[in-house]
Formats: sequence, structure tokens, C-alpha cells
Amino acid sequence: MLFRQLFDSISSTYTYLIASRKGGEALIIDPVLEKTDHYIRLLDQLELRLVKVIDTHIHADHISGIAELRDRTKCVTLMGEHAPADVVSMHVKDNEKVKIEGIELTALYTPGHTDDSYSFLMQERVFTGDTLLIRGTGRTDFQNGSPYDQYHSLFDRLLKLPEETFIHPAHDYKGDLVSTIGEERKFNPRLQVTSAEEYAQIMNNLILDNPKMMDVAVPTNKKLGMSLDQQKKFNGLSVAEVKKMINNKDCCLIDLREDTEIERQGSIEGSIKVSFNKLPDYLHKTRKDISKTKLVFYCAVGERSALAVQLCQSYSLTNINHLIGGIKKWQE
Ligand SMILES: [Fe+2]
Repeated sequence: MLFRQLFDSISSTYTYLIASRKGGEALIIDPVLEKTDHYIRLLDQLELRLVKVIDTHIHADHISGIAELRDRTKCVTLMGEHAPADVVSMHVKDNEKVKIEGIELTALYTPGHTDDSYSFLMQERVFTGDTLLIRGTGRTDFQNGSPYDQYHSLFDRLLKLPEETFIHPAHDYKGDLVSTIGEERKFNPRLQVTSAEEYAQIMNNLILDNPKMMDVAVPTNKKLGMSLDQQKKFNGLSVAEVKKMINNKDCCLIDLREDTEIERQGSIEGSIKVSFNKLPDYLHKTRKDISKTKLVFYCAVGERSALAVQLCQSYSLTNINHLIGGIKKWQE
């Protein structure tokens, strides 16, 4: 496995790049916008194809690199389901799997630092975002944070993991790189409490300045999704326009979502399933057969389908459209 821990010294953020092999698919967790060139260079050097990028929560201290990476590498952006609706192209629920080639992560809903905080468990490693830090925990005084929720996320979820599990946090301000569940249980001063009340008392008595970037970072990070207007520019069609094409039996509908999303959200009748990840292969194999077909892509919120249209252009396919706003707009 390839595992790289990358650091942004301005916001003290750790970003993780993971892949199962050189030349394969890759995943990035908590990228920082200003480091995008660095990530892309590293992906190129390791011959990796970035397919998913995750934010553990809406960050307040830096602008996330997920949108820039999406636009430059055509990857799927992903957060937990409690993240604002239009930030990412794919949401996952508590306990749902996040898969790329040879790698599987389990999403754990661990609110408290913010109400949209998720951790991601990968075998003997857990990416804890700002929920559990090395010898610390993420503050709980803004973005709907709650010390009580965090107590339960810590004591009922993360600390229940095997004690040799490695902890990979989203930040460290003292130069520590990695810890373990057992080590934190023993030495993290915030975890030496016997009740949620006691924990809340500690957290509510921290007197902390707001992060310097907060007023810029939070609103920017909530708007990283592709707007409906932007989606329209990539041969976007409205629900009414797609319905008309279906009624006239005038198109081939392609659903780009993954099985878990289709199970949860349902799909449009008559569509065929080609997950976004597999689209390059699909286009490569079927290019000749589909060159005269009118393809209409759709996904969860319209981002992956907009990227799919762009991808098709590199295969010189015309007659390609996509549904603006995805299945979400369709069901509305
Ligand atoms: Fe944070």
C-alpha cells in the first residue's frame, strides 16, 4: 500500500494520500487548496489516478482543495451525509463503505467538533479529522459543535476500536505525526474524564480565539460544489427536457452512481448503470457502438455527470448531455 502523510505548515493540516499500488487508483483525505499543485505532482510521480477526495468535515481554518482537485483530475468529492447538500458529489452514511481499487474505508459519524464530522476507518488505521487529535480533541464551540456529542463520538465509537489502531488526525500543532487508540486513552488529558458532563466542562472552559481564516474558510468551503449554473454549461438538461427525451425514446440514460447510493436513493427507470469510476473503461470499450447514441448521464447532484460530459469530449463523443441537479432534482 502507498500511504503518504502530507503537511500544510500554514494551517497545520495533515492530508493523506492512499493507494493500493503504484499505477492504481488513489484517494486523498482533507486536502488544502494551496497544496493542490503538490498533490498533483505527487500523483503524477507515483502514476496514480485520483478517483476520490474526502473532507472529514467543513473546515474553518483553511480552504479545502476538494473542488480544485475535482476540476483538475475529474475525481468524486465525498463527505458524510450531514455535510451541507451541495458541497460534494457523493454523501455517505454512518457505517457505509468508501471504496477505491484495493482499499475500503468505513465511514463513522463522529459529531461534536462540528455536526458534520466523520472519521474513516481503514483496517488498522483511523482518520479522525478534528474529532480526536494527538493528546487533544477538536474544539466544540462553533459550527454546531457539541461537547456532549463529541464525548459519545470519542468514548462510544473511537475508543472502542482496538487499542493498537493508528490515529491519523487532520491537524497537529506540536509536531506529532501519529498515535494509537491505546496511547490516547492513556495519555490524552481530555480523555481522563468519567462522564460527559465532566468532558463538557473542560471543553466549555477553553478560551480560544476563532481561527484566523474562519470568516473566509467556512462560507467558501460550503460553496465548493458545482452550482446548477455551472452544471448547465456542460450540456446540462433540465428535468423536463430529460423527461421529454425519455418519452420520445430518444436517449440512453446512464446512471453514474455507486450501488449503495442507488439502493438508498432509487433510480430512473430504464437507465443503465456505469459507476463514474468505470466510465473511462466503458467509453473505451463502447466508443464505436455509442457514437451515434444520445447519451444522458445522471448522478446524485449533477457533478459527476457534468464531469462525465467533459470526459466524453476527450473521446470525441458528441450528442452527450447530463441531468442538471441529478436524481435529487428529478425526485423534487
Ligand atoms: Fe476543524
